[in-house]
Amino acid sequence: MEELSLIKQALRAVMNGQPLALRDPHRPTWHLAPSVGLLNDPNGFIQHNGVYHLFYQWNPLGCDHRNKCWGHWQSIDLVHWEHQPLALAPGACYDSHGCYSGSAVVAEDKVTLIYTGNVKFPDGSRTAYQCLAQASDRGEYRKLGPVLPLPEGYSGHVRDPKVWRHQDAWYMVLGARDLQDRGKVLLLRSSNLRDWQALGEIAGSGLNDLGEFGYMWECPDLFSLDGGDVLICCPQGLAPQPERYLNRYQAGYLLGKLDYRQAAFSHGEFHELDAGFEFYAPQTTLAEDGRRLLFAWMGVPEQDEEAHPTRRYGWIHTMTCPRELSLRHGRLHQRPAHELQQLRGEREDWRGRADDAPTYALGAAELQLTPQGAFSAAFGDAMTLNWDGERLQLTRVSLADGRPEHRYWRGPVTHLQLLFDRSSVEIFINHGEAVMSARYFPAGEPQLRLNGSAPLALEYWPLTPCMLE
Ligand code: FRU
Repeated sequence: MEELSLIKQALRAVMNGQPLALRDPHRPTWHLAPSVGLLNDPNGFIQHNGVYHLFYQWNPLGCDHRNKCWGHWQSIDLVHWEHQPLALAPGACYDSHGCYSGSAVVAEDKVTLIYTGNVKFPDGSRTAYQCLAQASDRGEYRKLGPVLPLPEGYSGHVRDPKVWRHQDAWYMVLGARDLQDRGKVLLLRSSNLRDWQALGEIAGSGLNDLGEFGYMWECPDLFSLDGGDVLICCPQGLAPQPERYLNRYQAGYLLGKLDYRQAAFSHGEFHELDAGFEFYAPQTTLAEDGRRLLFAWMGVPEQDEEAHPTRRYGWIHTMTCPRELSLRHGRLHQRPAHELQQLRGEREDWRGRADDAPTYALGAAELQLTPQGAFSAAFGDAMTLNWDGERLQLTRVSLADGRPEHRYWRGPVTHLQLLFDRSSVEIFINHGEAVMSARYFPAGEPQLRLNGSAPLALEYWPLTPCMLE
């Protein structure tokens, strides 16, 4: 579709579709969700002059993966967000089939976007260009065109540039599928964001002792944190294993050391970033106060997307809550950004045997649990969390086939922080040692019901709605 035509259709879709979307009882009250249509990856997450920008993959015209634009929200506190003009819409010869994922940097004191222009051909093949766009004084984004064609030796699947500044140069990591169907991460360098020099593959299937590790790696992100270098990546094609790699595609990280001169990244094993049902394409930014913050898509490509009930209301998917990262004992930890605490209403405390606990309304709420033994918790009729002393098990009824499905985390559980928002829950285990993120679609307002003979302590806060829409 021509760019201007898509923008006109998008405006109509929002104006006509928003009332229905807002009537959806599963619509989040404090998470970011598309006004209408489909949201996937967070893009271009950055803070500039005190203002957070979060862009996102958005199909305004439907709940399928087409017409990918960059929507744009802005916030000063990570919690209250405002819509901004649509940042990018496809239609140029170098991005005709989608302005795909990418990142933002500040160059010439302007927010500058680096994204993938996706181009499909009638024979089913495709190519990709890495492209630039820059903010005007009015906060609109002007496309500056491609700066990097498809590198030699790769399929048309090369995308999702994440760019950062290191010493006196710009660096980029790119996700790729090579001609032997191996997923890779490429490292490139530039002095001016326009001329890019390929430095080589720094991680991927068949590299650095990983063995076979998927046919495509999407959405890489590389940064230093607490003395280590972290490479986030989303490999596609990993076989499920008992209790891990259970989602359609994985999102995880490799911890190691990047040698910028040799373009070599030595790293340890791959760890999943989230043990829940929905989590993909995370992107981080370095906040002006030094925190490494993360948003992710609370969805997974091709994972029962057809069955989400929100489609009937003309929208699908949400972002996770903003999270702060840290490295502790060689593992990445995630905690909800402290700014979210401003959503808390009046706190209620309770202590006793789980069986005797009162019920609590979970529509939009925060719950902290300190268990002293096994217990189980039901979140309305749609999800349960069970702790048997060794394993935490999250269970829901599959949207696709109605059968129970499970996700797991193993280890001693000393503390749980759960954030609910109508159709999602994010469970932070032991102050961020692991997280389980999931969508669920309860009938009516879900109530918390606890079971178990062991004592536990509980803190509960209702959360105040804060979305602009
Ligand atoms: C990940 C992804 C990216 C791509 C984008 C397209 O979910 O497939 O690799 O850039 O979504 O929307």
